[in-house]
Amino acid sequence: MTTEPDYPTIPLENYHEYPIEEMRERLRSFYEDMSRRRTVREFSDRPVPRDIIETALMVANTAPSGANLQPWHFVVVSGAETKKKIREAAEVEEREFYEHRAPEEWLAALAPLGTDSDKPFLETAPYLIAVFLQKFGYLDDGRKVKHYYPTESTGLATGMLITALHQAGLATLTHTPSPMKFLNEILGRPTSERPFLLLVVGYPAEDARVPDIKRKTLDSLRTSAVIVLAVGGIAVSGFAAELLPDPLAAGWEGEAVCERLHEDEDTRVLRCTFPPGVGHERHFHAPHFGYVIVGGRMQITDAEGMRTVDLADDLSWHSDGIEWHEVLNVGDSTATYLIVEPR
Ligand SMILES: Cc1cc2nc3c(=O)[nH]c(=O)nc-3n(C[C@H](O)[C@H](O)[C@H](O)COP(=O)(O)O)c2cc1C
Repeated sequence: MTTEPDYPTIPLENYHEYPIEEMRERLRSFYEDMSRRRTVREFSDRPVPRDIIETALMVANTAPSGANLQPWHFVVVSGAETKKKIREAAEVEEREFYEHRAPEEWLAALAPLGTDSDKPFLETAPYLIAVFLQKFGYLDDGRKVKHYYPTESTGLATGMLITALHQAGLATLTHTPSPMKFLNEILGRPTSERPFLLLVVGYPAEDARVPDIKRKTLDSLRTSAVIVLAVGGIAVSGFAAELLPDPLAAGWEGEAVCERLHEDEDTRVLRCTFPPGVGHERHFHAPHFGYVIVGGRMQITDAEGMRTVDLADDLSWHSDGIEWHEVLNVGDSTATYLIVEPR
């Protein structure tokens, strides 16, 4: 019997589930679009309708926040006078930073971006959005309310704002003159709010150029952290001290050895192929069913040591999960097998 929660709830009516293929396609095209996002430092003064900025702010406002306290406040600046004041104050801080305060190491990190203390974009771009983090809020009766995780929450909202503006076809620059206290004074915000960053928004200048920088590859940005261990016949997920890829992500000398033949909500099927001398780097396995299409002589290394096994054609097995192992084809024929993983 389910008990009614003692706080107000509503049905989750707006959730959308997509078929796996559509999920893949939506994400792939979203990724393609997002991968074109660049920080722009040369802006056009072409106007942008204000409602576009306001819709983007509504996107930011959908961000999750610690205890739902929504500890953010955005000031949209478009007036020439105010932009000029912000530029002048920012350049004072930036000159101090570049000429005195910045350690050599920081200047070296900034060198590939070509930034300096001149900030003409603060006047050229049609909008500056000053993002403030509210350290605490006030109830209607004036009592103070502490905000939990305000930095994380405001960072998430700002990320969503940048994403929304990019989706709209606008360029942004995340600007953090340090310190930014001058924003409280110029924009009349209370001391309970900390300036978080200044987002410059508009169209890029026609001849805008951007630094030639690289992003991390998928392999270097993540490690598959789910290790499935069989404990008394029950599979439990956990984290091992060493985080390993799963069989699909694990390859050999930078090349993939397994391909995804099928995946839906219930099952994933991989085909893994090992020509002689090719192996499968150290990886973990979720519970799976294995089937050898073409056998071969494989050297297996796991927690119990190293051994060589002859996998016969049509051999099959069931595993409750393998914490780690690595495999090398030490025979003279190409071995191929299927891995079927229930979800
Ligand atoms: C928290 C934060 C602060 C930043 N501050 C500045 C800044 O003050 N000036 C600037 O020109 N770029 C600034 N940037 C932009 C970064 O230099 C830029 O995101 C990075 O070089 C990667 O380039 P991309 O955004 O084109 O991928 C900042 C970015 C972040 C996330």
